[in-house]
Amino acid sequence: MKTRALILGLALLGATGMAQASQNCSIKLKGGDNMQFDQKTATVSAGCRTITIELEHTGKLPAAAMGHNVVLTTTADADAVARDSIRAGAAGGYLPAGDARVLAHTRMIGGGEKATATLPGSALRAGGAYTFFCSFPGHSALMRGTVTVVP
Ligand code: CO
Repeated sequence: MKTRALILGLALLGATGMAQASQNCSIKLKGGDNMQFDQKTATVSAGCRTITIELEHTGKLPAAAMGHNVVLTTTADADAVARDSIRAGAAGGYLPAGDARVLAHTRMIGGGEKATATLPGSALRAGGAYTFFCSFPGHSALMRGTVTVVP
């Protein structure tokens, strides 16, 4: 009887582990000197406590010439935030200061660097339309993609 209970317990533990493993709470992007992200879409699970955005700049050019960041907004806000980011200029890190439309953003990095950002999972709702983009001047048209929140 004890063995049977132990096996059942292990089976339940295994099922729980699988449920957690299938929840995707991170967005991992790479950007290079070709001014592109390696992905045009990203998927995260609804119900994540925290969502992590990881960016790796796989190029060699410095941030001043080929800067990359990841800015996350609703798709409806993306174009306007991208315009306002250029207006913010290099001194403003190419992001409007304290802008509530920016749901999350990494810092601007150059070749060989990495940056991370987090946001509460509750900031995104299932079925919502979200866009990630690089706010460096001239990059957002090419360097953008959509984030889908799945149940
Ligand atoms: Co860029």
